[in-house]
Amino acid sequence: MQNGTRIWLQWLAMALTVTFSMVTGQYFKPFNVSYDHRALIIDGQRRMLVSAGIHYPRATPEMWPDLIAKSKEGGADVIETYVFWSGHEPVKGQYSFEGRYDLVKFVKLVGSSGLYLHLRIGPYVCAEWNFGGFPVWLRDIPGIVFRTDNEPFKEEMQRFVKKIVDVMREESLFSWQGGPIIMLQIENEYGNIEDSYGQKGKDYMNWAANMAVGLGAGVPWVMCRQTDAPENIVSSYSIDLHSLDAIDACNGYYCDGYTPNSKKKPVIWTENWDGCQVETSAVEKYGRFMVQEECSGAEDKQSVREKQRKSVIFAPGKEADETEVGVWNKMVGTPQKSAVLLYTSWGGRLPHRPVEDLAFAVARFYQRGGSFQNYYMFFGGTNFGRTSGGPNYITSYDYDAPIDEYGLLHQPKWGHLKDLHAALKLCEPALVAADSAQYIKLGPRQEAHVYRGNNSTCSAFLANIDEHKESSVQFLGQAYTLPPWSVSILPDCRNTAFNTAKVGAQTSIKVVDFESTSSAKISAPEHLMIQKGVPLVSESWMSFKEPIGVWGDDNFTVQGILEHLNVTKDQSDYLWYITRIYVSDEEIAFWKENAISPSLTIDSMRDLVHIFINGQLIGSAWGDWIKVAQQVQFKQGYNDVMLLSETVGLQNYGAFLEKDGAGFKGQITLTGFKNGDVNLTYSPWTYQVGLKGEFLKLYAVDNNGSSDWTNLAQNEVPSTFSWYKTYFDSPGGKDPVVLDMSSMGKGQAWVNGHHIGRYWTLVAPKDGCQETCDYRGSYDSEKCNTNCGKPTQIWYHVPRSWLQPSDNLLVLFEETGGNPLEISVKTVTVETVCAHMSEYHNPPLQMWSHPNYFNGELSASEMKPVMQLQCEDGYTIASIEFASYGTPQGSCQAFSMGKCHAPNSASILSKACEGRNSCKIEVSNSVFGDPCPRTVKTLAVEARCKPSSSLYAGVSDI
Ligand SMILES: *[C@@H]1O[C@H](CO)[C@@H](O)[C@H](O)[C@H]1NC(C)=O
Ligand SMILES: *[C@@H]1O[C@H](CO)[C@@H](O)[C@H](O)[C@H]1NC(C)=O
Ligand SMILES: *[C@@H]1O[C@H](CO)[C@@H](O)[C@H](O)[C@H]1NC(C)=O
Ligand SMILES: *[C@@H]1O[C@H](CO)[C@@H](O)[C@H](O)[C@H]1NC(C)=O
Repeated sequence: MQNGTRIWLQWLAMALTVTFSMVTGQYFKPFNVSYDHRALIIDGQRRMLVSAGIHYPRATPEMWPDLIAKSKEGGADVIETYVFWSGHEPVKGQYSFEGRYDLVKFVKLVGSSGLYLHLRIGPYVCAEWNFGGFPVWLRDIPGIVFRTDNEPFKEEMQRFVKKIVDVMREESLFSWQGGPIIMLQIENEYGNIEDSYGQKGKDYMNWAANMAVGLGAGVPWVMCRQTDAPENIVSSYSIDLHSLDAIDACNGYYCDGYTPNSKKKPVIWTENWDGCQVETSAVEKYGRFMVQEECSGAEDKQSVREKQRKSVIFAPGKEADETEVGVWNKMVGTPQKSAVLLYTSWGGRLPHRPVEDLAFAVARFYQRGGSFQNYYMFFGGTNFGRTSGGPNYITSYDYDAPIDEYGLLHQPKWGHLKDLHAALKLCEPALVAADSAQYIKLGPRQEAHVYRGNNSTCSAFLANIDEHKESSVQFLGQAYTLPPWSVSILPDCRNTAFNTAKVGAQTSIKVVDFESTSSAKISAPEHLMIQKGVPLVSESWMSFKEPIGVWGDDNFTVQGILEHLNVTKDQSDYLWYITRIYVSDEEIAFWKENAISPSLTIDSMRDLVHIFINGQLIGSAWGDWIKVAQQVQFKQGYNDVMLLSETVGLQNYGAFLEKDGAGFKGQITLTGFKNGDVNLTYSPWTYQVGLKGEFLKLYAVDNNGSSDWTNLAQNEVPSTFSWYKTYFDSPGGKDPVVLDMSSMGKGQAWVNGHHIGRYWTLVAPKDGCQETCDYRGSYDSEKCNTNCGKPTQIWYHVPRSWLQPSDNLLVLFEETGGNPLEISVKTVTVETVCAHMSEYHNPPLQMWSHPNYFNGELSASEMKPVMQLQCEDGYTIASIEFASYGTPQGSCQAFSMGKCHAPNSASILSKACEGRNSCKIEVSNSVFGDPCPRTVKTLAVEARCKPSSSLYAGVSDI
């Protein structure tokens, strides 16, 4: 080993973590935030900022510190969140800032970790959240029309936005008070629907911007997707009385072509979609086209704009005509009428965005003048309770984000982005010093952007936007090889620190299993036995039969079909519609003679209906304003027609949300009768809101003994519309806990009174998944899907803080006859870690901060790449399952040796890694010897993580 290298490795071992000075109490010395055309200006300094999206109610307060810490370690400067009005004001005038809605606590945690906060108040947030974040009572305010120049709406909106700003100011959380909040947002993606409101839309948008700035929060406001965000609004209350505009910002898969509407505003990307936007709406598609247009001239601006305009037609609540549907199908490739779907729905596939493409998009953004980028999401989390938006969005909001739903790192996504962020940070001095980049064309689809400061500071980005071919380019007299669809980052305009397509970070493979791998350690010896080989959550269950139809005194009867939300006020998903018809002998004879059955027809329905005749379930249908026709059989005499209408997440996107509603629209008729159709539309209907079990709060912990629970026998036939309950013990250890609900149908679940969400085992289509996922080329949601032919979601997160060691109450309401006896409680564990790195990979980014690097004692060419493997906290590398330095093939869990192989590979790795939580190994001949000169060698390793035994506890890395 060369001397320089040895010093370097020793230094690297010590420089494991960069520590930041922590400020407590007041989080920062008070500072001002402003901006110029280049960047946000924080305390007088331009900054290049990386932001991590975390929505506080999608995790528990107990999870927040770890999520924020992992975001910071991953290189985030800023945490971004929406504010969820429906959670903060569940009843008009009654604010709530408790538990998962303890916004102040969340903001303080961000501040105390030394990060900034971007608070997106909205208060319309979309967010795949129930009703886009609006409280459902809002639609009952007389004369209200949302998000337009409408006095009742504006009054409510202003009151709430002011409330949030006031709370933040009272708690001293704005930057000028020494708090973390550097930026706010008013409205959200309004530009997409503004046209639907004509001039009133424009007036509203101006009002919103003025109102927001007028609140005197003293930090800049942005408007996401608002190309006409106003300029020159003077904030009369602002602390230093300086003028603040609303900055229009971009969202989508790529934003590097984006230019704000004023030369005075910086380029801000509020939502970089890193995962699950599926069934892409037209708007998103065009976001993508816009970038392609910049890169390749694929579409001219006019046609893009024309299509964007057309995309507005597909707003919910407005039926598209056949031409529009045709256009839609062509564009989106999915037959869809009217609705714009934005997130994984029940019965959908799971999309994944490759990290090489995500890193490419981010690097391109900063390369081409961007200054603030937010990952939507950095942590997605869970839609607990009935907070999922709709129609029909799943409970998991994992989002394929760098931190997974349970709070574990999603590798290599997290690690590769961490490296990217470290490389970008190295460029920050040059990026902020230069007003703009020098552009150098390197080839037909290759380009460089060079940023120079006044002194010798220089950083450059070299991009190859060719989707297929690697490219060799000359830049400032040196040769560089650029993989297809990649950006190389050169912090000193000479040495490559990072390339977006070369992933050095490890891959982590998680298992969801009932074998508690943590049982060998930590606390609670009484729980050692629980998980081992006992998959079932419990063998002893009780059940309670939900009555079919009316069950309570608050039922009422009126003529005609009421709109679902008008009746339920969204206090429950469920609403019974019941009517009665008389069937004569003649009708029965008529059906027999003609061998026909009558049908029940509903013109239009969302989200789900169960159809019962005389108490018997005869059919169900689900969809978004679909027509339903169900064959029925009647007996002679009176027959009860009972419809259980259900919402599965209220609409969260589109114009005129308040008019969309739910349940049934149009006519409900019976066809096939002797004297023509029977029109039930104006019949007397009896209504019953919700379930009896909900009314009785069967899920509540303190509700023991009440009602008619009976023991469930093992051989009982699975029944529909049943409540089930049992008690279970927590798995030992700290690994995240999930319930495996794959034996169930559709319903809701509660643990210790906490509503863990809706569940549904709808299966994704068999086709449309790809065996391999090619990162190259523009991403779209059909590109890298998994989970075909399987239920969209079977695991449901139960946060550790909601569990006690034993006797946890699990209550379910099951609609379709699932089997609770097969539910199991499992843990999520990182069992396998892998990495694969070439001897020509870039050396670790810490090299750049080595004291000897800049004085020339260390040169980049001397530095070798270093592979790092790490198990989760509390785990150590127990064994090396595969190791080969040479020409190994394949990928994690399927590596194989190539022709060239250093025989000492496994022993070197075992020695360096086994028994440790993490290890680093240099990828070079000096470590392994040279098994095949003149061949490029790579190191592939697969290791197994096991719970640390006490033997290794406290052993630190070398
Ligand atoms: C050049 O200027 C930047 C900021 O303008 C500063 O951060 C950097 O340290 C300077 N570099 C040198 C070599 O003086
Ligand atoms: C339905 O409501 C009526 C009127 O309040 C009441 O008399 C009746 O008992 C209710 N039905 C049931 C099943 O509770
Ligand atoms: C809902 O109720 C309101 C007030 O009673 C009424 O004006 C409105 O028309 C109802 N909406 C529907 C779709 O029935
Ligand atoms: C049902 O009755 C209503 C009111 O009379 C009428 O407007 C509607 O057209 C009828 N529907 C059908 C399918 O006959």
